[in-house]
Amino acid sequence: MTDGAQETQVLNQPNVREKLRLLPRELELLARGQVYPVPEGPGRDVQILPIRELPPKKGLSTREGQARMLHDLASIELQAMELGLRTLIEFPFAPEEFRRELMALTADEGRHLRMCLDGLEGLGLPWGSFPTHIGLWQSVSREDSLLDRIVIVHRYLEGSGLDASDTLLRRLDGVQAPSVRECVRVIRQDEMGHVQFGSRWYRKIAEAEGLDPDQDFSVRLRRLFAKIPRRLEPISRATRLEAGFSEGEIQALEEVRQLWLAPPAERIHR
Ligand SMILES: [Fe+2]
Ligand SMILES: [Fe+2]
Repeated sequence: MTDGAQETQVLNQPNVREKLRLLPRELELLARGQVYPVPEGPGRDVQILPIRELPPKKGLSTREGQARMLHDLASIELQAMELGLRTLIEFPFAPEEFRRELMALTADEGRHLRMCLDGLEGLGLPWGSFPTHIGLWQSVSREDSLLDRIVIVHRYLEGSGLDASDTLLRRLDGVQAPSVRECVRVIRQDEMGHVQFGSRWYRKIAEAEGLDPDQDFSVRLRRLFAKIPRRLEPISRATRLEAGFSEGEIQALEEVRQLWLAPPAERIHR
């Protein structure tokens, strides 16, 4: 099937609102079997910096601090939307039901992104007021298997997002920021479903490939360790259990987190 655009409009398009406008049509084309080449990097209309060069954050009691938080969140939602599309483009032969669910998830990310953009405008510091990073996009690669991709995006990145939003909601409790809080609350609720999607399909696909999911997760996570972004957020056991992680998987996540916390020399020897 090759009708319609021959290039992915959403990933190439730099303008964020335009990306959102193009998303439903592109999802429809992907559902009908459209294939696209994946660009090296996604189009952006804001400054991109390496994560370590981003300016320090301000407290959540200030308007700037709240806007920066929402801006960082918008950048995460944007990358989550783009990663959803990228998986759909790169894995045309993934189970049909998986692809259908991933399309709905990708549409959710678009909705989250729009909420953040609107919230930023409400605060008078619109999208583009701060530099951003593309660290999530850079944590996946063309060499990933479908299981790698599910582990990186839905179980590691989105899973860490759940831990982080629990902490964030607690911090927002003490400040006057009702619209920001509502944004984070809605996203947190949907993201639980996204991580559950990752846990469910990880098991299904691992078993279909004759792998023991309980053993594979820890081995795979260690193999992917060098390319996944550092997450030092404490791992919330209750949240992870609800999101479909087994005790052994939570243990594996904790071990990886300890590796990040360990001095660089020790990381090599473990
Ligand atoms: Fe999201
Ligand atoms: Fe998500």
